[in-house]
This record gives sequence, structure tokens and C-alpha cells, in this order.
Amino acid sequence: MSVHSYYTVPETVPEFVLNNSTGQVFMQENRFDKASLNWDDVPERVEMAKHFATAIEDIIPLASNMQVMDFGCGTGNVATRLASLVGTITAVDSSAGMINVLEKKLTESKIKNIKPLLTEFNEDSFQKDSFDLIYTCMTFHHIDNIEHVLRLFYKMLTPCGYLVLIDMEKEDGSFHDDNTGVVHFGFDPELLNYTLDEIGFTDIYSRTAYTRVKTLPSGISREYPIFLITGMKSIA
Ligand SMILES: C[S@@+](CC[C@H](N)C(=O)[O-])C[C@H]1O[C@@H](n2cnc3c(N)ncnc32)[C@H](O)[C@@H]1O
Repeated sequence: MSVHSYYTVPETVPEFVLNNSTGQVFMQENRFDKASLNWDDVPERVEMAKHFATAIEDIIPLASNMQVMDFGCGTGNVATRLASLVGTITAVDSSAGMINVLEKKLTESKIKNIKPLLTEFNEDSFQKDSFDLIYTCMTFHHIDNIEHVLRLFYKMLTPCGYLVLIDMEKEDGSFHDDNTGVVHFGFDPELLNYTLDEIGFTDIYSRTAYTRVKTLPSGISREYPIFLITGMKSIA
């Protein structure tokens, strides 16, 4: 028996993450940097993203000249499925790890119209009227001041531009194994509809987009309904 067989080699998690496009090095500081390393190894996640892409395609009249933002794009499992149907997708994420995985995927797949952007999103990230569609999938429960972000989305949308919000309905905190970085245990879609209306969105519509079934550590199987809400920026 060789000496090496006495050791279990730990899966290495780098402490620093290099952003390939900018050359900047970021400290691996959020849960998603670490999670990015095997994000796509969970088939249920990839499957869920496929459903989200199909739901967006079904509900929004996508067009080849559309400028799109994917807020909290992760490894791009939604964006890569919509890319051939729109003009450009700016894929925004605050995790260097997630952006790195997406960049590798884009190089391998030769998709040219997804522009990954590592940013802590704020009012200076984009100008007014920059996007015809902004969508966000399973990211809002990690965002503290969602009303502030929704107001920024409104500003950054072109008149008659579309917003699509996809996230979990209220849950009891059991969805994530570790709730670090989870700010909301889901949302009440009715309340979100009300907030969108207050901000000025019109044509607000919501429905269940998908139901994620998870087996909890206790062995119990649970259903987590995921809503889709759409709204449109008014013309004026
Ligand atoms: C649960 S993942 C969802 C990924 C992807 N949307 C999907 O459905 O496959 C949430 C993503 O939101 C990103 N995120 C969290 N807070 C963010 C913020 N303030 N700005 C941009 N991205 C953020 C995380 O880094 C992570 O990639």
C-alpha cells in the first residue's frame, strides 16, 4: 500500500479568486465563490434554470435586438439558454467565482453575446434606459433592500421594457442547508406585486413558474413553489 492511500486529499478551495477578464484578484469572501466550484454538478439546479429560461421565453416576446440584463446570473444556466433569442445579455454577478465559471463556459461554447460583469450592483452600474428586459432568478432572496434594487431596475429599463422576477414563495428557512447570506425566506408575491405597482410598473402578472422538490437532511421531501412575476416600465 502506498503512503498516499492513508490520506484523503481534501477538495481544495482557493482562498483567492482570479477574475480572468480583468486580471483582478478577489478574496473568496462570499458563499457563492465557494459554491461556484461545483454549482453545475447539482442536476436539480441546472434543471430548474432550464425551466426558468423556458418560462421567460414563453412569457416575454424576445427579439434579436433586445438588450438584456441577467441580475445574479450565477454560472449562466439561464443566460446561455436565452442568448440565441436576444441581442446581448449583460450577465451581472457579485461573485468572482461564478463569473469565472461563466467565462469558461462562454469560451467553450463560443457564445459571443453574453457579457459577464462582476459588480456590486448599484445606481452607477448602468445608465437610465439601458435594457429592454431585466430578469433575475433565485437571487432576490439574497438581496437586502429589494425595493431599492427594483427602483434601479425601473430606471435602467427602456420605456416599455420588461422585468421578470423569479424566486421562492415564503418558506420556513429549510430550503438552504446553510442560511448564511439568505436575507429573505422567500417572498409573498402579492406584496411584490404591490411594490412593483408603487414604483410605476404596469401590466403586472404573476404565476407559479416551477416547484422545486427537495429532500431535507431529515429525509422528508418538501415542495418549494417558485413564482414568476412580470412587469413593464410605463412609457412616460
Ligand atoms: C442562487 S444563485 C442563482 C444563479 C442563477 N440566477 C440561476 O438561477 O442559476 C444567486 C446568485 O446571485 C448572486 N448575487 C447575490 N447577491 C448579489 C448582488 N448583490 N449582486 C449581484 N449578484 C448577486 C450570487 O453570487 C449568485 O450567483
